[in-house]
Amino acid sequence: MRILVVGSGGREHALCWKIAASPLCDKLYCAPGNAGIAAIAECAPIAVEDIPALVAFAKERSVDFVIVGPEGPLVAGLADAMEAAGIATFGPSAKAAELEGSKGFMKDIAAKYRVPTAAYKRFRDPEAAKAFAHTLPLPVVVKADGLAAGKGVVIAETHAQAEAAIDAIMRDRQFGEAGAELVVEDFLDGEELSFFALCDGAHALPLASAQDHKRVGDGDTGPNTGGMGAYSPAPVASPEIERRIMDEIVRPTVAGMALEGRPFKGVLFAGIMVTGAGPKLIEFNVRFGDPECEVLMLRLKSDLLPALMAARDGGLDNFDLRWHDSAAVTVVMAARGYPGKPETGTPIKGLDAAARIPGAVVFHAGTRLNAAGDVMAAGGRVLAVSAVAPDVKAAQKLAYQAVDAIDWPGGFCRRDIAHRAITRS
Ligand code: AMP
Ligand code: GLY
Repeated sequence: MRILVVGSGGREHALCWKIAASPLCDKLYCAPGNAGIAAIAECAPIAVEDIPALVAFAKERSVDFVIVGPEGPLVAGLADAMEAAGIATFGPSAKAAELEGSKGFMKDIAAKYRVPTAAYKRFRDPEAAKAFAHTLPLPVVVKADGLAAGKGVVIAETHAQAEAAIDAIMRDRQFGEAGAELVVEDFLDGEELSFFALCDGAHALPLASAQDHKRVGDGDTGPNTGGMGAYSPAPVASPEIERRIMDEIVRPTVAGMALEGRPFKGVLFAGIMVTGAGPKLIEFNVRFGDPECEVLMLRLKSDLLPALMAARDGGLDNFDLRWHDSAAVTVVMAARGYPGKPETGTPIKGLDAAARIPGAVVFHAGTRLNAAGDVMAAGGRVLAVSAVAPDVKAAQKLAYQAVDAIDWPGGFCRRDIAHRAITRS
């Protein structure tokens, strides 16, 4: 098979790494890819938003199967465009991707199909949103409806903060048109968990759980980021909790989306709060998490490709995946300045030494090769330095050994990734 992966992050490097190992894969392309991906796939410099160019490329290269990494192109209809051109694609249609593209839509689906989630209301008028926020206990949560790269959520500790957030999102359009509508909802208290299931429109196959660290600083302090590290499995995800997530959240959503005429195919990423009353849905994403994908791929024993094909073709009810009984940890190395204005263009050395550490794998998240063939930082999150070992403590140790082998003065990382899992075990 000739495969095209769309995206340029650590998630896409991990997907390419796993797919390149599949006996079914004859040729692997990635658009646009990065310096790490270029070592295992042929990279094509096409932006993920450029749907016509991606379709033209896939046709020209006789691609058999496309795997879409990020949410932006899915919400914009990349999977629909590929399928319309006769190219099988892993990833939801635009209508199904609204589960991530509109938080209000996601909440309405949850309410209609009785998926446990925070009580909420949708608003197009800022004054009405403020009045409702005043009726909720503190903290109160304000969310831009549309895609805002993970930044459109404010947990307001006071009603004045909630009002300011509503004005910033809706009046000042801090996140552009994503803020034309907003959701105001109750705060959920508990431990957060990322849960992944493959879906074929009718059935769902659980993958595995993971937890990420969203704050930039050690001890989970400082501003939010896309994720500074992750580990899998998540100790909070007991078999009982996983069963409840599948029965109470994933399966009702898959059934509901089919009834709505928007069958969900692809990977459903449920952001879960494990509360005293059990798992509750925070939000859905319609793609793999980043950096959660990196730790999942390290733990997956089976070939990924047939599973992704079954998600597209149907038949996940007769599918089984095998996992290594080990733990994986990934530590994100970011460019100085992230999550504000990252300093790019700094050289990264020592990658080979890091990769020689048994059990360690360095995924590239934001890199490019310069004319001399040196790896340069080209983004906020730059490397996802990962390791797999029999337990989480050993995996953490290996991951930091690999981090320490990397010579990159322009970067930084947290030193405590997986601390919660280690304390628990
Ligand atoms: P998002 O960008 O939508 O992933 O949301 C960012 C983060 O906000 C989530 O990962 C949660 O930590 C937090 N969050 C969102 N909604 C709620 C809620 N209702 N209660 C508590 N935390 C929330
Ligand atoms: N790491 C969280 C996300 O991918 O949205």
